[in-house]
Amino acid sequence: MIEISNVSKTFHQRTGGSFTALDNVSLTINKGEFVSLLGPSGCGKSTLLNLVAGLEQAEQGSITVNGKPCKGPGPDRVVVFQEHALFPWLTVLDNVAFGLKQKGIAKKEREALAMEQIKSVHLSKFADRYPHELSGGMKQRAAIARALAMDPEILLMDEPFAALDEQTRLILHQDLEEIWMRTRKTILFITHNIREAVVLSDRVLVMSTRPGKIKKEFAVQAARPRDISDSVLHHVESSIMEALADELDKVVKEEMGDEYSIKKNAVSDTASDSLGSGI
Ligand SMILES: Nc1ncnc2c1ncn2[C@@H]1O[C@H](COP(=O)(O)OP(=O)(O)OP(=O)(O)O)[C@@H](O)[C@H]1O
Ligand SMILES: [Mg+2]
Repeated sequence: MIEISNVSKTFHQRTGGSFTALDNVSLTINKGEFVSLLGPSGCGKSTLLNLVAGLEQAEQGSITVNGKPCKGPGPDRVVVFQEHALFPWLTVLDNVAFGLKQKGIAKKEREALAMEQIKSVHLSKFADRYPHELSGGMKQRAAIARALAMDPEILLMDEPFAALDEQTRLILHQDLEEIWMRTRKTILFITHNIREAVVLSDRVLVMSTRPGKIKKEFAVQAARPRDISDSVLHHVESSIMEALADELDKVVKEEMGDEYSIKKNAVSDTASDSLGSGI
């Protein structure tokens, strides 16, 4: 279980100013839960994920994982970024086995463990390829396999599918849901895509900006595996769009002046006719 209690994070800029990226954020993520964060650019999603990863430290509040303070990165938490970050000079197999090698696991055993994960993301035929020989979707699958090979309790995913085309994204949604149902890892997932958040998550948290806070949370009580035509998903999606339209309106007014406003229908229309409703 991840417990985030009254966490605030201020970045001090080189120019002398400071910026409060997160203000008094509290949140509990249960073991085995799939939680997504949505919110306008700059609202502090990555900052929150980096704090849980132990890559940043909060100056106020506390973050614990299973009761233990999160003081730095640990083997219980692995991050998957938008950029796959595979080593270009290693094959898929060696990339996936890399962390296991660091752990001191013998070659035969680590290759067997890595192949198991490569199989689980349907990349068996590509195990001996180098990253530049793979499509974007394959690279991201390899990155997920590499994270899974470490067998962390928690997967922290920062817009992992943002650079992929819609068809590839849909396939990866299925893959990730299948992995989650099989392994019941705790997943904290960041996206700008409302549909993606709703289809994958048990809970979607909408953040507001300046300063970053959790504004509202939405439970997605739809059967799994998810069916994209499920009316429950559509219902939650529209409620989230409303919450986000208000937030975007606030951002746009701050940046462009009071006379500018976001039409709620504009947000909903673009979203409803595609599977990739983004913000
Ligand atoms: N190292 C840093 N130094 C100064 N400011 C920072 C730093 N990291 C983040 N910020 C600021 O904190 C705020 C939150 O950033 P963060 O990257 O968490 O946003 P985000 O919600 O992930 O945005 P996006 O959707 O664009 O990825 C932004 O205004 C950003 O400029
Ligand atoms: Mg971010």
